[in-house]
Amino acid sequence: MSRTLAALSFVFFLSTHGASGSYPRAQNVTWTSTNFKTILSWEPKPSADYSYTVEFSRAGGDKQRNLHCIRSSFTTCDLSTSLTDLNACYTADILSEPPKLGTSDMIEFPHTTSSQFCPYTDTDISKPDFKLKVSEDKKKTTLYVTDPLTALFKDGQQLNIRDIFSDQLQYRVTYRKNQSTGKKVYTSKTSEIELSDLDQGESYCFSVQAYIPSRSVDKQLGEMSQPQCSNNDNPSIFKALTLPLTPHYHPL
Ligand SMILES: *[C@@H]1O[C@H](CO)[C@@H](O)[C@H](O)[C@H]1NC(C)=O
Ligand SMILES: *[C@@H]1O[C@H](CO)[C@@H](O)[C@H](O)[C@H]1NC(C)=O
Repeated sequence: MSRTLAALSFVFFLSTHGASGSYPRAQNVTWTSTNFKTILSWEPKPSADYSYTVEFSRAGGDKQRNLHCIRSSFTTCDLSTSLTDLNACYTADILSEPPKLGTSDMIEFPHTTSSQFCPYTDTDISKPDFKLKVSEDKKKTTLYVTDPLTALFKDGQQLNIRDIFSDQLQYRVTYRKNQSTGKKVYTSKTSEIELSDLDQGESYCFSVQAYIPSRSVDKQLGEMSQPQCSNNDNPSIFKALTLPLTPHYHPL
């Protein structure tokens, strides 16, 4: 009886500690992604005895690695430029491996698999910048939104979110009269947004956020911009906001 118990607890000791010295598995694996800048992170920080390697793949596809995330002692991996098929969904395995120069008898290393991440539908969109202009006759207010830049490049050119989402990208403007709490919402398919049914001579405050209606409800709205207010009683402000004319120089 006591011999059996002793044998059992020895087996238990082997399976929990591992005769060949198993490495801890990664925990709390998280995707963080804004404007297609996509970072995989996990815990804990490794001791000097082991390291992490990241393997990622499309559903049903081959496993791939990113050079910077092989036998690394970091607990993050930037996969922005690795997830090349934006419309695909990826999962990643984080393998606990020997340190960079170490070796091991183990054939298979412990690993943790991430949740699924689909760049096109999952990346968050940051708050956009915009310029505000009221026409001289004060009948028209126009917001000029700058499409936020992404972490992606094509032919040496940094892409913005309009380059990626094209006509799926809309903007949602939330506005209210200065000092009023009643909010109104206007949705625009373009980055130049014209509002013509505002009360003339009133000051309004506007915030803008990206809106991608083709996504699932919890991912449709981007981060909301800081509000900007018009001040219709003081036209000098709008002088400062109008775009200066660019002079043209003609080299001889
Ligand atoms: C994982 O997250 C939980 C909850 O935040 C935390 O208690 C735990 O310590 C984390 N694991 C590691 C290895 O840091
Ligand atoms: C908002 O209204 C307050 C009070 O009427 C005024 O002092 C302030 O200048 C207004 N802000 C803008 C940006 O017009």
